[in-house]
Amino acid sequence: MKKIVVLFSGNGTNLENIAKKLHKKHLLITKAITNNPHAKGIERAKRLGIEVEIIDHKKFTSREEFDKALIEVIKKEAPNLIVLAGFMRILTPLFIKTFPTTINIHPSLLPLFKGANALERSFKSPMKVAGVTVHWVEEELDGGEIIDQACLYKKGLKFEEFKEKIHELEYELYPKVILEILQKE
Ligand code: GAR
Repeated sequence: MKKIVVLFSGNGTNLENIAKKLHKKHLLITKAITNNPHAKGIERAKRLGIEVEIIDHKKFTSREEFDKALIEVIKKEAPNLIVLAGFMRILTPLFIKTFPTTINIHPSLLPLFKGANALERSFKSPMKVAGVTVHWVEEELDGGEIIDQACLYKKGLKFEEFKEKIHELEYELYPKVILEILQKE
């Protein structure tokens, strides 16, 4: 079976969704890694039998040092694909050169609303549609080649409804894209 490593920073609902749909059925999540020792996703992952490693970015003096530690851990797993799922750290060129097969999910229709607070900015914009994007991770933040997108009509939605619908799109799109990439490999 193909192997993936998932990186997350917070709630971990995308990780949970990917694990429930794909782990041990279509692929193996050999490890989930978080930079945040308090991430809610740690418990979610453990409940599903996924091994979690915490690499606290605050213990490193620079982004490069943190990324070197990440690289060392990920190399041991020899994954076919690295999946960022709510991983809120900017990766350095060293990481991207080492692992060019890294993908990310972003809660907007890229190239709109790159960077932080994309969900809020997308909601507040005058646009009547919104969506989610899966893209290759490249040096420019949220600027890598777009792999796939899904969208919704947002007119009239309250923020909480909007957020829920965006998450639903993510839960449909991300596992589908991961499988498509692994099948092509
Ligand atoms: C997701 O909505 C994901 O698109 C977003 O963080 C959330 C994580 O939720 N990612 C980004 O904003 C990356 N720039 P989760 O921890 O419950 O999966």
